[in-house]
Amino acid sequence: MDIIKISRAFNFPLSQKLLSGEAIEIRFLQNTDNQYFIDYIEALSDETRQKFQPHSFDRTTLMQICQNPATDYGRLVVYAPEKKRIIAYFLIFAGLIAKDQARFAAQAMPLNSETDCTFAPSVADDYQNQQLGSLLMPWLIKICQFIGYQRVILWGGVQAQNHCAIRFYEKFGFQKLAMFQNKNGDNWDMYLPLLSSSQSTPDSLASYNISNP
Ligand SMILES: CC(C)(COP(=O)(O)OP(=O)(O)OC[C@H]1O[C@@H](n2cnc3c(N)ncnc32)[C@H](O)[C@@H]1OP(=O)(O)O)[C@@H](O)C(=O)NCCC(=O)NCCS
Repeated sequence: MDIIKISRAFNFPLSQKLLSGEAIEIRFLQNTDNQYFIDYIEALSDETRQKFQPHSFDRTTLMQICQNPATDYGRLVVYAPEKKRIIAYFLIFAGLIAKDQARFAAQAMPLNSETDCTFAPSVADDYQNQQLGSLLMPWLIKICQFIGYQRVILWGGVQAQNHCAIRFYEKFGFQKLAMFQNKNGDNWDMYLPLLSSSQSTPDSLASYNISNP
């Protein structure tokens, strides 16, 4: 994933305002974010961590992520400059998780590593359910279209009891595939079919803001 090229195309960092009036910036995680990223992850509640666990949260891993950004990941963040905090972290993986692949294949919807990507979102606990995820999601979708993906697959599905996340996904067009069970109980596999990027360019998002989605 060419983060530099995408950042240029989308004019990152993008300055926006939340409904509260708070200024925020949308951009990719960068190698100067070490402490902000560690603080963000370490402040996540146990409840949020139980729903969002795409990678290890130990400090060594978090520092490695910032210092040596892997080319197959895109880590979209919302940064709040006044508070000097990261307040949302959306992870795009330019690849597929083996367990997800197996479940989709079993439902006669085989995944394709060329045209499918994998996604896991999180928002800081004190900003959840205030439309921050909904502000960031259109950008994630446009980025995936820009890269040329045709579907976004939820990383490990979503817990069936996570009604907020399911509502959030459905609002942006995600579809339920099938339910599966794991140590967390019942979960849904969900995926988002994407339009081609020619139907929606980065420029068309230039005027997007939270009050005019
Ligand atoms: C899921 C998550 C990324 C969404 O981001 P967010 O900023 O909180 O979401 P938004 O506020 O933009 O939207 C949430 C939607 O869920 C709705 N919602 C909230 N609680 C709900 C509930 N109990 N039942 C149904 N809908 C609910 C909200 O009303 C809102 O929908 P609306 O815009 O139509 O009113 C965020 O809540 C989060 O990080 N949760 C914890 C980690 C997690 O669950 N990650 C996903 C793992 S699959």
